[in-house]
Amino acid sequence: MDKDVVLYRTRDGRPRAVRPYCPHLGAHLGAGGTVQGQNLVCPFHRFAFAPDGTCVSTPDGPPPRARLLHHTISEHNGFVFAWYEPDGAPPTWDVPDTVQTGVVPTAAWSAEVHTYAQEIIENTLDYRHLPVLHQVAVQELDPPTSEGPLLRMRLRLGPDRPPVLRQRIQADHSFLMAGLGYLRVELPLPSLGLISYLWVMHTPTGPRRTHMLVATACADIRKPDATGASLPRRGLHRAFARAMLRTAVGKVHQDLAIWNTKRYEPRPRLAASDEAIGFFRQWVRQFYPSSP
Ligand code: FES
Ligand SMILES: [Fe+2]
Repeated sequence: MDKDVVLYRTRDGRPRAVRPYCPHLGAHLGAGGTVQGQNLVCPFHRFAFAPDGTCVSTPDGPPPRARLLHHTISEHNGFVFAWYEPDGAPPTWDVPDTVQTGVVPTAAWSAEVHTYAQEIIENTLDYRHLPVLHQVAVQELDPPTSEGPLLRMRLRLGPDRPPVLRQRIQADHSFLMAGLGYLRVELPLPSLGLISYLWVMHTPTGPRRTHMLVATACADIRKPDATGASLPRRGLHRAFARAMLRTAVGKVHQDLAIWNTKRYEPRPRLAASDEAIGFFRQWVRQFYPSSP
């Protein structure tokens, strides 16, 4: 949103996200600020701020009545999410956890994209472009359904041959979108006892500028807790996650050529088979203010 966020962890491991400017004389806390115990210390005059944001000490004298403003944050699968609240309103929803606990991404890629977050998400609902742009056959298993800020859909993709496998597989992908910044794809591969996860997340950083993150993980399908896997299995999980990422990023590069040059069509001329896109355009309205 064209604003900086300073992210840090206190000694006890809790992450915090604060607005960047020190209320004393405006130094940027991300440019040389340090964490000392539970406090964040400003690089300019060493005023210290407690986890609740209160200024608790200065090197020479009592602290002023000052407070750092926080973003509410939550952690899921090793990602830290910050709630952006221009008017300070608290979060009304959160990102759902994966069924397997302890799954964290082991491979990641990121890029700056010249587009809007909405366009990146729409790319998933616009599955008719998969055979054309990505040479992937697609069949809709479950049409998109929504539940407040969540949208779900299932597609069968392939047959395709993931780089680490010998056989070609036809895979049923479950897509979960949460708001405009979160997409999670679950791909169970029962014949291998594996489930893989792909995340696509995008942060609007400025007008028509989006930071895009693609990350992957893989876990044993039958173990609800992914942290319990044996070492050789973990090696396999990592190799599979890396291969998944390579494949996904290859496809994202094909999308980038379109995103970076296309324009946003507020009133697209949709074909009869573009129903999922129409559904998405309705769903997405909830994330914008009602007045322009
Ligand atoms: S500007 Fe931060 S302590 Fe002075
Ligand atoms: Fe695409």
